[in-house]
Amino acid sequence: MANLVIVGTQWGDEGKGKIVDILSRDADVVVRYQGGSNAGHTVINQHGTFVFHLLPSGILYRGKTCVIGNGVVVDPASLIEEMDGLQAKGVKIGRNFVVSERAHVILPYHKAIEKASEQSKGSRKIGTTGRGIGPSYADKMARIGIRMGDLLNPQLFRRKLEENVAEMNTFLERLYQMEGFQVEKIFQQYRGYADRLKDHVADTTVLLNNAIERGECVLFEGAQGTHLDVDCGTYPYVTSSSAAAGGACTGTGVGPTKIDGVMGIAKVYTTRGGGGPFPTELLDNVGGGLQERGKEFGATTGRPRRCGWFDGVVVRYATRVNGLTSLAVTKLDVLDGFKEIKLCTGYRYNGTLYKDMSADLQVLTDCEPVYETFRGWATPTTGLTSYAKLPPQAKRYLARIEEVAACPIDIISTGSKREETIVLNNPMAPKRRRPMAKSRRKR
Ligand code: IMP
Repeated sequence: MANLVIVGTQWGDEGKGKIVDILSRDADVVVRYQGGSNAGHTVINQHGTFVFHLLPSGILYRGKTCVIGNGVVVDPASLIEEMDGLQAKGVKIGRNFVVSERAHVILPYHKAIEKASEQSKGSRKIGTTGRGIGPSYADKMARIGIRMGDLLNPQLFRRKLEENVAEMNTFLERLYQMEGFQVEKIFQQYRGYADRLKDHVADTTVLLNNAIERGECVLFEGAQGTHLDVDCGTYPYVTSSSAAAGGACTGTGVGPTKIDGVMGIAKVYTTRGGGGPFPTELLDNVGGGLQERGKEFGATTGRPRRCGWFDGVVVRYATRVNGLTSLAVTKLDVLDGFKEIKLCTGYRYNGTLYKDMSADLQVLTDCEPVYETFRGWATPTTGLTSYAKLPPQAKRYLARIEEVAACPIDIISTGSKREETIVLNNPMAPKRRRPMAKSRRKR
């Protein structure tokens, strides 16, 4: 069995939850490596619908160890609420769940600072999820962050909290004319969280590397997507963590030599939750149709998502910066019934054709997408489990996605349920990768 990273290739919301859920069956350990409760992964199985914000969805399987890695920022209240909700539905959460002592904590002042900062930006706001993610990572980088392990040490926690609250209150009161926070109130509240979570906090670098030494199989679960990565994404319209595959190493303490493959998740069209450039965005009723059929509303925020055609430039860039070994494409069924479907292969800006993602937001904002047009298909693909049964037009469209994205497709999702999936190749099984063109010929 292989150690595999799962990463979003677009701006998040690619349907990673379902793919992680399917692949978790073959994993021994599932680990989240970045982000926080800004993420929202929906899993639908025979027991119901489950929305995950922090916990790896592998928790739904018995006998798997689920880990929150050091690269995640943890809002303890949100974590406890999620644990309670799952336990109420009969999910066992005991020694099978471990959170890194090195993971940073989200505190109430992080959310307040984020809200004030977003408001002050006006039309240039990022459109964050309001979960305190950015300010918590900012503290981490400024080397004043409070970690899960610190919560378990009352003296250390109080000292750090006193220093931070003094600094944050100055910031809030002077810059934003907002009321500051009281140390004692936060201290008591978070000591309560620490009591509840203490048995789950450990050195997860030991746990993960020992598991790999024993030959166990680890699934690294990315949240958000490549273009929201703080380094590789459409900066500054990004989240504040390393959502791309590199984050799997820094966010867990597992070295790159231990990872066997990286699977990118791509929706067969494109969506974006917050602000920022989106070259293939459709502001007409075609975009509205994708939004309605794809139920494109944020699992965390409830906000409607912006929708557009599949952008090959976006996904090809994701293939490159993540070193993708294969793709899982999701929501094929949403395109059922469209008369024509477009796929973007490049951008035209000021007379120049761009085949690669530009770092210049002006280019991405004002460019004209170059499209190839495909005939749609009349027969529904919803729930199909066999590639052979796909309409020929859908096969052609998917083959072109493989070519433009420069990556072979291993999995095709045809509905929201676990079983509504076509598995062409299980990436958790260690195999030499087949060349792309050859793999398509075989089908
Ligand atoms: P933050 O992560 O809350 O700071 O938000 C920064 C940007 O990332 C905003 O555009 C959010 O909409 C976006 N974002 C954060 N988490 C997700 C996610 O799970 N799915 C999609 N977009 C997200």
